[in-house]
Amino acid sequence: MADVVNASTVAEVAVRTGSEREAAWIVEHVAATGGDSTTVRARALALAGRVAAGEPLQYVLGTWAFRTLELVVDRRVLIPRPETEQVAEVALTELDRVAAAPGEGLLAVDLGTGSGAVALSLAAEGRTRDRPFVVWATDVSSDALAVTRVNLDRLAATDAPAASRVRLAHGSWFTALPATEAGRLDLVVANPPYVSEEEFAVLPAVVREHEPRGALVSARGAGGVPGAADLEAVIAGAARWLRRGGALVVELAPAQAYAAIDAARRAGFARVGTAHDLAGRLRMLVAER
Ligand SMILES: C[S@@+](CC[C@H](N)C(=O)[O-])C[C@H]1O[C@@H](n2cnc3c(N)ncnc32)[C@H](O)[C@@H]1O
Repeated sequence: MADVVNASTVAEVAVRTGSEREAAWIVEHVAATGGDSTTVRARALALAGRVAAGEPLQYVLGTWAFRTLELVVDRRVLIPRPETEQVAEVALTELDRVAAAPGEGLLAVDLGTGSGAVALSLAAEGRTRDRPFVVWATDVSSDALAVTRVNLDRLAATDAPAASRVRLAHGSWFTALPATEAGRLDLVVANPPYVSEEEFAVLPAVVREHEPRGALVSARGAGGVPGAADLEAVIAGAARWLRRGGALVVELAPAQAYAAIDAARRAGFARVGTAHDLAGRLRMLVAER
């Protein structure tokens, strides 16, 4: 009976959202929090109204799946994207590579962590071959870090050993880290802002009017590449903060890939390459110090 009621509510919600799939997510989400069919219908229609008014579905639902995690998201943080799941995948592969070399504890950092998507995935999924493992999750936005904290607490409730690996730090790129970590990092991963002002102006309203501008927009890089300033800051910093053999994985826009390769070579990285997202677009710089 509940399924029949939910199916008719989904149809009603879909009229507002314009998407059956989104309607099903909304009803499933509301039904999971309990209540009778009248309550579920009323709450689902209210959420559908927010989506119809232009709010991102992810903020309306309040949580969103990223790899093995269900992350709390609101307008203080970027909505984690599918391409970043692939960035985390490549970072996990690099972590596995560095963990295979002899050594003591492993140190990783996710710069500009936002919801904590990448840092918490590394903590939860990292294959570290029984070596002690610490993951720093940093952000210049204290609002964003408050959301990371909520997600870290949620991880602690389901996987306390993973959560105990994570340290939060506030500040701009590497300045957030204790100076004692300089030259000792095994892995640096970042999804920095990489959208130019011009691109931002023509982004869909659902992104431009709701997601944090500071998570998206970056200035022109030193070589003139639009949106590449933060990308270049991360690459230059990583060359100083990684130990030899350590790995850098940075998300970027396809048009920035060659400038990023150049910047990494100039910064002294030994092995420099790129990786694609699941849609086949150039999406990452992957480099070994
Ligand atoms: C594109 S979002 C990525 C968020 C998250 N890592 C993800 O992939 O979903 C960029 C993040 O970098 C942060 N950020 C922007 N400028 C920064 C800076 N100078 N230092 C550290 N973090 C910064 C933003 O606050 C935002 O959380």
